[in-house]
Order: sequence, then C-alpha cells, then structure tokens
Amino acid sequence: MKRPKISLIGAGNIGGEMAERIMLKELGDVMLFDVVEGMPQGKALDLMEGRPLDDSDVQLSGTQDYKDIEGSDVVIVTAGLARKPGMSRDDLLQINLKIMKDVASNIKEHAPNAFVIVVSNPLDAMVYTMQKVTGFSTSKVVGMAGVLDSSRFRAFIAMELGVSVQDVHAMVLGGHGDDMVPVVRLCSVGGIPLTELLSAEKIEEIAKRTRMAGGEIVGLLKTGSAYFSPAASAIEMAESYLKDKKRILPCAAYLNGEFGIQGYYVGVPVVIGGEGVEKVLEFKLDPEEEKALQGSFEHVKRLVDSIEI
Ligand code: NAI
Ligand code: 2OP
Repeated sequence: MKRPKISLIGAGNIGGEMAERIMLKELGDVMLFDVVEGMPQGKALDLMEGRPLDDSDVQLSGTQDYKDIEGSDVVIVTAGLARKPGMSRDDLLQINLKIMKDVASNIKEHAPNAFVIVVSNPLDAMVYTMQKVTGFSTSKVVGMAGVLDSSRFRAFIAMELGVSVQDVHAMVLGGHGDDMVPVVRLCSVGGIPLTELLSAEKIEEIAKRTRMAGGEIVGLLKTGSAYFSPAASAIEMAESYLKDKKRILPCAAYLNGEFGIQGYYVGVPVVIGGEGVEKVLEFKLDPEEEKALQGSFEHVKRLVDSIEI
C-alpha cells in the first residue's frame, strides 16, 4: 500500500517543523513547496539525510512547481507573511489574501481530492478564502487555530497548578484573534472543574495570557511568530484525518447555523475523521459565553466582509 502524500505549501518556520513531525511520525511522504528557490529542496534533503537516525522511511522532496503536489491526500498551507512586533494578525490581511488566492487556485487544479488545512493569518479569513476559491466541500477545508489556542490554555493551567498537561482539559472557541473565547466552564483538571482549584482572578489572568499568547511570542522572537506549537497543532489535525481517528478538536469550521452563525468559518469543536470535518459538536453556551463568542464572530465577520474574492 502506498504511503499517504502530504504537501506543505510554505516551507518556512512552520512548514519545516511540520515536515520534521511528519517524518518522525511516519505519517506520509512530504512535498514541501515554497516560492523561495532551493529552500524547500534544502530542508527536504536535510530531513532525508537525518532519517536513519530516526528510523523513518518516508520520502521528502522540495519544489517550486505546483505539478509536484498532484495526488496529495492532505495539503497544509502556511504560505504568507508572519507577524512582527507591533503587528496584529489582521495587518497581514491584504498581502496574505493575494497569496492565498494564488495558492488556492493551484490546489484546486493540482490536488482536487486533498483535505486542506489552512494555517496562514488572519486565519478565519484565509480559510474562508481557500474554501471559496477552491469550491471544495466545506468538510474538506478547515482552519488551524483552536488546537493551538487550547493547547496554550492547557499549558498555562498545568504550569500554574504544577500538574501534568495530560490531565488538563480545556477548550478555546471563536476567531483566532485577541478576542478568542477560552471557555472556563469546560476546563477540568483530572476531572475536577478548574473553578474548584483556582481563584476567579487567577483563572482570568490565565485566560488573558491565552488570548494574548501569540503576541507574547512575537514580542520575544522579534523576527516572526510561534512555530513549534502551531506545527504540532496542524499535524494533530492531519493525523486525525489520515488515521480516521475522529478526534474532537477545536478548529475553524464552516458553520451552517450552528452556534447561531451562518456562512462563516469560526473556531468550534469538530470531529475530524476520514471524511474530513465530519461533524460540528454544537452545545449550549451560557449567556456570557454566548456574548463573548458573538463578539469574536463579529470581528471575523467584519474582516471577511471586507475582502473581495
Ligand atoms: P514563515 O515566514 O517562516 O514562512 C512562510 C513561508 O511562506 C515563507 O517561506 C515564504 O517564502 C512562503 N511564501 C510566501 N509567499 C508564498 C507563495 N505565494 N506561495 C508559497 N509560499 C509562499 O512564517 P511561519 O512562521 O511559517 O508562519 C506562516 C503563517 O502562519 C503566517 O501567516 C503566520 O501568521 C501564521 N500562523 C498561524 C497560526 C495559527 O494558529 N493559525 C499560528 C502561527 C502562525
Ligand atoms: C500565533 O497565535 C501569530 O497566530 C499566531 O502564534
């Protein structure tokens, strides 16, 4: 049986890290695409040469030619600019919109059967653009943000309590902006509600740090944004699809009335399996959560409504 083929459009920081994760997990063969001559080829060759040290037999190549993504089972898109200090994700809109349209029309032509995961920012507008330009089923186009934002929330809770991240469950909904919605009511640690373990003030401090976590890393790195944890997040989504695991993951999914939202991509819990986004798990929000989600959605809507596709 042939190994799955995974194409990574954008071979920068996140693209390179994703390629390494795919190699280590032997999830499939990798095609790294980037507009920078030689760079994806160089990263692919570097990883190929290290495979004997990791007992991995997957094949990795680099290209500047979209023909080479033909036959892809999964395409993950990180093409575009990343934030620099002082920039919001929204500041990337115009430049990344142009890039996303070009990437999407090439995916449509060369990888029509792929499950597409978009990572580029501003995420909720970029995944919307990808779906509109490709015309792919909304179950086959999804955005990565909630997995990362929820992982950050879980990490900060575990750091505060001095417990294993494995035992911390938490979920962040909404758009991938500073108004994202960490849902405190659903956080638990070893099955115990977080509200029993930490004060309301401490929880709000952690939720705020989660909302601003992307900017915190940009401020430290100065030359770009986070890439290790974003890469891990996108690969978790790809793995659930390729192995039909049916993981429940918070992702930017196209909503058809769920949570009162129609026709936009917003972060909600979904089931990812062999059919792509198989289900949106809708649940009742309390009035405060509902208001926060609506506020985050209004932000996404303003951004999406401002673009021409
Ligand atoms: P990076 O700058 O290291 O890599 C981006 C790559 O895209 C570069 O190698 C560049 O040459 C390439 N590129 C530019 N135009 C292209 C085109 N037309 N076709 C193909 N490739 C093209 O940036 P990094 O750190 O990998 O981040 C990528 C994107 O992901 C950024 O937009 C960033 O804001 C976003 N991001 C999203 C997150 C999320 O949670 N959704 C988290 C972190 C970053
Ligand atoms: C992040 O959250 C900047 O979206 C990027 O790290």
